[in-house]
Amino acid sequence: LAGPELAAARRHVVVGDAPAGGRPRLALVGEAPGATEDETGRPFVGRSGALLDQLLAEAGLDRAGAAVLNVVKCRPPGNRTPKAPEVARCSGWLRRQLELLDPPVVVALGLSAAKWFLGPRTVLAQVRARPHLVDGRAVWATYHPSAAIRFGPNGAPRAGLLADLTAVAGSLS
Ligand code: URA
Repeated sequence: LAGPELAAARRHVVVGDAPAGGRPRLALVGEAPGATEDETGRPFVGRSGALLDQLLAEAGLDRAGAAVLNVVKCRPPGNRTPKAPEVARCSGWLRRQLELLDPPVVVALGLSAAKWFLGPRTVLAQVRARPHLVDGRAVWATYHPSAAIRFGPNGAPRAGLLADLTAVAGSLS
């Protein structure tokens, strides 16, 4: 699935979550599973997931109604950024998930996901805070919750992530 190095190190392939009952209005797309996700097989259930849940609630978005996916389905050792060939190997899975789920709105969390949708030269600060039309979907790229954790509760990434999720919520209502 994700190349020999990731396949050898992983415990679970983290496929992602999709709500029961048809087409979700929103898909959240992260980078790759972390340690807790690798252990449990579920996306965004560790520290990043806890902050994501909190910010989604603050923004008025319901995680249970959203698909939660990742660009890469297996944990990179030490949580390093997935390499381009690993992303390429996994791309068909995310492409097919998006085809099948067909969410009209996507939130790309962090640079790996932003690049997947918007191209390899993407600069997050230049593309965030507004939707981009990609294959008929409104794609919002924003900070990853791990950046919000790294820069702290008063840092720019947390505020930016919350502002962007709030704008997404507004676009759905
Ligand atoms: N970070 C991600 O990008 N995805 C997860 O599922 C968990 C942490």
